[in-house]
Amino acid sequence: MTRHIVQPSGMLHSDSASCGVPQAAHSVPNQEHNDHDGVSMTLSDINPESESASLVGDLYRHYRALERDIRVNEKSTRTTYRSPVNFIESMQKPRHRWFPYKEGFSPSFVEEFLTTRVSINGGLVVDPFSGSGTTALVAGELGFRGLGFDVSPLTDFVARTKAVVMSAKELRSLKSYLLDFANSPLGSRASNPNNTTVERYFEPEVLDALLRAKGFFSEIDCPKISSLFKLAFLSAIEPFSTHRKAGNGVKRKTNYEWPTAETDSVLAVKHFMGEILEMFASDIEQTPNFYPPEFLQRSCLGDSLSEEVEDVSAVLTSPPYANCFDYSKIYMSELWLGDFFESKADQQAFREASVRSHVHATWADRYCEFGVPVVDEIIRPYIEEQDLWSPRIGSMLSGYFADLGNLLTNLKPRMRNGGKLGFVVGNSFYGGVAVATDLLLAELGRSRGYEVEEVRVYRGIIPSSQQFRKLGNNRKYMRESMVVLRRS
Ligand SMILES: C[S@@+](CC[C@H](N)C(=O)[O-])C[C@H]1O[C@@H](n2cnc3c(N)ncnc32)[C@H](O)[C@@H]1O
Repeated sequence: MTRHIVQPSGMLHSDSASCGVPQAAHSVPNQEHNDHDGVSMTLSDINPESESASLVGDLYRHYRALERDIRVNEKSTRTTYRSPVNFIESMQKPRHRWFPYKEGFSPSFVEEFLTTRVSINGGLVVDPFSGSGTTALVAGELGFRGLGFDVSPLTDFVARTKAVVMSAKELRSLKSYLLDFANSPLGSRASNPNNTTVERYFEPEVLDALLRAKGFFSEIDCPKISSLFKLAFLSAIEPFSTHRKAGNGVKRKTNYEWPTAETDSVLAVKHFMGEILEMFASDIEQTPNFYPPEFLQRSCLGDSLSEEVEDVSAVLTSPPYANCFDYSKIYMSELWLGDFFESKADQQAFREASVRSHVHATWADRYCEFGVPVVDEIIRPYIEEQDLWSPRIGSMLSGYFADLGNLLTNLKPRMRNGGKLGFVVGNSFYGGVAVATDLLLAELGRSRGYEVEEVRVYRGIIPSSQQFRKLGNNRKYMRESMVVLRRS
């Protein structure tokens, strides 16, 4: 076991140079709750004389030492208790409401960051984990240059389609296709997805109607219009499915019914998609001065930041939380029915390219030099001694911080002096201990040469595990926050 030395300042240093990064696993999280602790051992079961107890003690001493140096702003928990990750607001805003992505930011949170925290002054606004594209889209609404990266072909498609700009002629053509769609018998049908589990999430006649709608728009030769139809189709998938997204996957709906009053499945799908498409057309008309951002479907890690990312004034992002959620499972129906996945190999490639926040892939050792010593030398060995539902969680956590360290290192030379970075993160709870991602990310930022402006706490998170109660004063570490860094 590696030895740890808590220095007089309270900061932890190790006598080992090893970064101890993972052989294993990972994927993407849901931002609502971090409830994947899955432990059979509780803190009160830990022998106070044991190595585990000493690791836990070292960890919380380390957090307290960090808090002495880092400004932790908890005011907002008492006043608003609102998460920046709040898609309810997006569902009321033009363009943002085109696809329900519940891990998405609230546009007003992004707007506030970009207009009050930082001076953009012609620089680039980047979101390296852009999801449905909220940061870059809001940047575009404010007249700034926005750029988003995401590994998911689904969210990349959603974000790009939301950024569409159409001429009056193209809008007229969209409306004429809408009329054709309403009058069409939907005679040509797309083929079933290459995934039998996804087929089971639909009544056969509903799946047939959805595939007929897909057959219709697959024949539209204008890419912008066909993409808008495809996005409306993707938005119809969950409302028509017998299953809904829940936790790290899907669950059967208790009161399943179609989202429209029609009794014929083809009419029901046409009606539902038609209303969504009308809304798209009206939103496009309402936002004529929108400055379209750019989106790239690729990982933000490694060399990928090369050309497009320069002169960056602001980064506002929310990486997957380190909570083992796998977006390739949560969005399984959309990914397969939208032809983003055509084989299991596609799904595996997606999992492997994503940040190490899940346990569904096996990664080669990567970026271990960018990690956080306390994670590699205290959290990981502690977690690996516990009887958790997956033996890969310790290595996932080491890998998670190493990936974020790699990103911070690569971003730094591309940022303007004085540029700001906001990382919205949720802390996690494993084996009875809190993994304070916010403090650890602030520490990581500092080690990568940034100034830490603050950790701003937005709300508490309550894990489902009863063990949470045993955290006592350390419950405060279960929270969702934004880590604000400054490039100086
Ligand atoms: C919490 S979501 C971001 C949501 C976003 N703020 C929004 O408003 O929609 C995190 C995203 O990170 C993406 N992701 C995971 N690993 C990635 C990587 N290595 N590079 C780029 N994106 C990644 C996931 O596909 C997911 O869409």
